[in-house]
Amino acid sequence: MVNADLLIVGSGFFGLTIAERAAEHGQKVVVIDRRSHLGGNAYSEFEPETGIEVHRYGAHLFHTSNERVWEYVNRFTAFTSYVHRVYTVHKGEVYPLPINLGTVNQFFRSAHSPDQARALLAEQAGEFESGSASNLEEKGISLIGRPLYEAFIRDYTAKQWQTSPTELPPEIISRLPVRYTYDNRYFNDTHEGLPVDGYTAWLERMADHPNIEVRLDTDFFDDSHDASKAATLGKLPIVYTGPVDRYFDYSEGHLSWRTLDFEEEVLPVGDFQGTSVMNYADSDAAYTRIHEFKHFHPERDSPKDKTVVMREFSRFAEGDDEPYYPVNTPEDREMLLAYRQRIEGEPQVLFGGRLGTYQYLDMHMAIGSALSMFDNQLPELIPALNDVT
Ligand code: FDA
Repeated sequence: MVNADLLIVGSGFFGLTIAERAAEHGQKVVVIDRRSHLGGNAYSEFEPETGIEVHRYGAHLFHTSNERVWEYVNRFTAFTSYVHRVYTVHKGEVYPLPINLGTVNQFFRSAHSPDQARALLAEQAGEFESGSASNLEEKGISLIGRPLYEAFIRDYTAKQWQTSPTELPPEIISRLPVRYTYDNRYFNDTHEGLPVDGYTAWLERMADHPNIEVRLDTDFFDDSHDASKAATLGKLPIVYTGPVDRYFDYSEGHLSWRTLDFEEEVLPVGDFQGTSVMNYADSDAAYTRIHEFKHFHPERDSPKDKTVVMREFSRFAEGDDEPYYPVNTPEDREMLLAYRQRIEGEPQVLFGGRLGTYQYLDMHMAIGSALSMFDNQLPELIPALNDVT
């Protein structure tokens, strides 16, 4: 059996936050990850031909209004002043997102004031009652009206789910925010930026502690090593951040996820699209968006004649696909309740993170909830942590 006070399954932000806090408070921690790198989905690497940092599992933008999380993350990295903005291509024209007064006026070739735009959209949205929508399309129209829905939501959503919005449940969207100003900052948070030396340097600094041992290529469910479920359950406290349904051998069923496929390419041009993320709203492009990574770090030196782009495709996850976004159907929610009951029968194991709780969590939420678990739940399993003030 592994020689440690605490075993953590998963080296993403959730697992590493618990590991760092416990190590700093004198606990010996072993972190295992089945992947061959640490950092979970926030992991990034420098593309060898260009030296441009690529976010391996999709673009990661850090933002938070949680002061405790902001203070904590600044212990490991400084942040650039990057401010995220997203644009979308529709019928050969580029519009700003999220839908704002600029998008509305460009689309309707108008110069509406905020109140005029509000009145226009309210009138167009009157086609359906929001509460009575029987599918995602009716819900979308009831929120922003048919013209904007058909331009910016319909085909994009169909690409995200590989399913017509008329066949998707209305609950998938609860709101479609429209900003009645020209502000097209993507995030509204107090703090925003990208780690100056990249995500992996930040994640490695969190794990760089004499009390932390990280073991990669190590699957919790592979019985051949001493940190496996079979070797450790009931013998030491465990924080588990893998998929909750996998932990219980899918006994209550498979929770459903949306996955992404990425196509990366080095192009022989200095600048491909002039911005970091361009969405493609129409069905003529099979991808949902293109990331161009050099624009995340304009402060860095990057090649003048090369760039790295990544096209993103989206679909329902099957089999061994990476789980990215919980689908969260009513069946999923029922299954999750059954798994939560089973969790109560595992007093030595704490379930956390996006996979362990079946929730979409931004990085700051994963870190914030790990800090809360460290304060409130871990001392029950590791009494020495009760002395933490
Ligand atoms: P995470 O998935 O990172 O880590 C879990 C780890 O557990 C993985 O490394 C996995 O290999 C390991 N594991 C699973 N099963 C195991 C087993 N059996 N044995 C051993 N190890 C096992 N957030 C944000 O703030 N801004 C953003 O822009 C984005 N962008 C974004 C894009 C995309 C495409 C996705 C899917 C997500 C984002 N996020 C984001 C969210 C961000 O990725 C998320 O907050 C963190 O990954 C959460 O960290 P966790 O530690 O919970 O999970």
